[in-house]
Amino acid sequence: MKIAGTVAEVREQVKQWRKEGLTVGLVPTMGFLHEGHKSLIDRAVKENDRVVVSVFVNPTQFGPNEDFESYPRDMDKDSALCEAAGASLIFHPEPSEMYLDGYSTFVDMSTLTGGLCGKTRPIHFRGVCTVVSKLFNIVTPDRAYFGQKDAQQLAVIRHMVRDLNFGIEIVGCPIIREEDGLAKSSRNTYLNAEERAAATILSKALKEGKAALESGERDAAKVKQIVTDKINSEKLSKIDYVEIVDWNNLEPVEKVMDDVLCAVAVYIGKTRLIDNFIFSINS
Ligand code: PAF
Repeated sequence: MKIAGTVAEVREQVKQWRKEGLTVGLVPTMGFLHEGHKSLIDRAVKENDRVVVSVFVNPTQFGPNEDFESYPRDMDKDSALCEAAGASLIFHPEPSEMYLDGYSTFVDMSTLTGGLCGKTRPIHFRGVCTVVSKLFNIVTPDRAYFGQKDAQQLAVIRHMVRDLNFGIEIVGCPIIREEDGLAKSSRNTYLNAEERAAATILSKALKEGKAALESGERDAAKVKQIVTDKINSEKLSKIDYVEIVDWNNLEPVEKVMDDVLCAVAVYIGKTRLIDNFIFSINS
């Protein structure tokens, strides 16, 4: 497995693979890889001849008071995980390689990005769409893999690929959880022992919301209340949002008539965690 730091190296390698008629999968990440990322790489390895994992903590998707500087990084561990999982290439550029002096072009989306995480993170999806577009242009993959843990991101990327005719298949992969239900996330490392125990409230609350939908409740406000009450029963938690939105357009719904995303963002101490489930009306 190679590690490339420059766009030119990646382009050269992909050109070579294309000459050999090989397919290419891309797993975009910000590193500090865990089982969730591994599941994306595993799937990509199964479905493509070659797999590129990008490891890049993207400065443009962090707001001024967010955790860009302190975001956890461990390139040695990441390389070992990628190698063991069968990735062919890691793309690990410096910010100056991705954003040249005088950089001024951004990909923005006028729908899907205003609600949920977009409310408290107003520039986040502009940064995500920009860096993912750049990665798509650099790697030119056949398929790209994203986790459902960041459900809004997955919906936004699918929409962007459709709008901008990227011609890349976007593969959404299930949330990977710890044994006690906490969704795996690089940010879980910020939690101390007491907060780590409290953080299970997200998945517990979502489970109750899902059970209500499964037993026929269709009033979104009632389901949201069930989830909200459960989260509030944990004293270390502070809700950012609890939302039920149409899974196709991310617009809030009153009655659950179609597939919906039930998503939460909750502070446990100072750490903001997200989790969700998708409820399929026909399942
Ligand atoms: O999900 C992430 O880790 C990031 O938002 C992504 C897609 C790698 C873009 O920086």
